[in-house]
Amino acid sequence: MRRCDELGAISDESGRLTRTFHSAGMKRANALVGSWMKSAGLEVREDAAFNLLGRWTCARRSAKTLLLGSHLDTVRDAGKYDGPLGVLVALACVQQLYDQSRRLPFAIELFGFADEEGVRYHTTYLGSQAVAGTLAPATLNLADADGITVAEAIRAFGGDPGRLGQARRSADDLLGYCEVHIEQGPVLEARDLPVGVVSAIAGQSRVAVGLAGVAGHAGTVPMGLRQDALCAAAELVLAAEALARDTPGLVATVGQIEARPGASNVIPGRATLSLDVRHQDDACREQALAQLRQRAEQIAAARQVGLDWRIAQETRALACDPALTERLAQAVQAQGYPLLSLPSGAGHDGVAMSALAPITMLFVRCKGGISHNPAESITTEDVQVAIDVLGQFLTLLAEDRRLSHHQDTKTLRS
Ligand code: HGY
Ligand code: MN
Ligand code: MN
Repeated sequence: MRRCDELGAISDESGRLTRTFHSAGMKRANALVGSWMKSAGLEVREDAAFNLLGRWTCARRSAKTLLLGSHLDTVRDAGKYDGPLGVLVALACVQQLYDQSRRLPFAIELFGFADEEGVRYHTTYLGSQAVAGTLAPATLNLADADGITVAEAIRAFGGDPGRLGQARRSADDLLGYCEVHIEQGPVLEARDLPVGVVSAIAGQSRVAVGLAGVAGHAGTVPMGLRQDALCAAAELVLAAEALARDTPGLVATVGQIEARPGASNVIPGRATLSLDVRHQDDACREQALAQLRQRAEQIAAARQVGLDWRIAQETRALACDPALTERLAQAVQAQGYPLLSLPSGAGHDGVAMSALAPITMLFVRCKGGISHNPAESITTEDVQVAIDVLGQFLTLLAEDRRLSHHQDTKTLRS
C-alpha cells in the first residue's frame, strides 16, 4: 500500500495522477518499480517498448515461465491502483519467494506494461501488444495531440523504434499469464467478497468521430440556417446513451468532445468526439456500432454536416483460459474464500497477452466500484488476500506434477 502511494505520486501533471505512454513520469515509475524488483532478486530490464520486465529464474534449465504483471501507465486524473496494484501484488509474491529462498519448478517474468490505457495514442495495449507481437506496424506513425508519433516518442525515450519487434516474446516456454487487477465495478463489494476470478473480458470498439459544419457568427446567423457541428455531436452523444440504456449488456461512452474553433461567439464549425462501445458478445457490439454509425449519418444529413467515422481500435471479447482459471479458483477456495466468477467490462493487458499464452485474472474489491477516478480505494486486508491467493496459485502450479515433467500447456489444460 505504501508502494502504491509512492508510485501514485509520480505524475506527468501537477495536482493529479496522469502517466502516459513514454512520458517522463513513466520513466520515473519504471526506475522506482525496477528498484523494488531488484531488491526482490529479479533480473530487471526495460524491453524495446519500454515495458518494465523482471525475471525470477528457476533452477531447472528447461523450465517453463509464468508471466505475471499489469500496467504502470494511467488514465488522466487516475486512481493509484488501476494497473500498479497488479504489478505490486505480483512483486510481493516474488518477494516472499526471495525471502524464503524458495525456487519453483518454473521461472516467473513480471511485467509493468508501458501503455494499457491508450490515453496518448488512443489505441490500448501498446506495451503488451509489443510483447505479444501483435502491434500493427502503422502504430509507429500514430501522432499524439502535439503531433509526436509513437516512433518519435520511443526515440525521445532513448529507444529505437526499429527494434520494437525485439520486445516480442516467444510463446514456446510459457505456462500462461496471470493478472491481478482491481475490479473497477461494484460486484465484489455487493457480495462482500475480497476477490473473484474473471470469466471473460468484454470486447470494445473505440471510434474517432469528426463532424464538419460551418463556423459562423453567433449573433448574426439565423438558427434555421446553421450547420452547427457541436449540436450534431450532442445529438450523437445522447443517441449513444439511449441505445446503450435500451440494449442489455451494452455500454457506450463519449469521454472526449471538442468544439472548434472554440470561441463563445462562434458557431462551432467542427466537432470531434470519442466513442467507446463495449459488450461481452461481439455480435451485439458490432450491431450496436452499425446502428450508431447509421444514426450519426442521419444526424449529419439532417444538419448538413459532414461526418468522419474512424475505428481507432477494436478488441474482441475474450474468455479466460479454463484450466488456468480453475487453478486460480482452487487457490481462492484453498485460502478459505467463497468462489465468485465474474466478467470484466474493463479491458486489460491480458487481452493482448492472450495471443501469446492462456490467461487468467484475479479481481480485487474496490470501494464503490469506483475507478478511473482519484477516489479509487482498496483495503490492506483485501490486498493481503490477493497476495495470499496469488501465492497459493503459484504453489498449486508448482505442485502440478504434470507441469514438473515440463509438459506443454495443452497437457496442463486437459
Ligand atoms: O478502458 C479500459 O477498459 C481499460 O481501463 N483500459
Ligand atoms: Mn484503466
Ligand atoms: Mn487497468
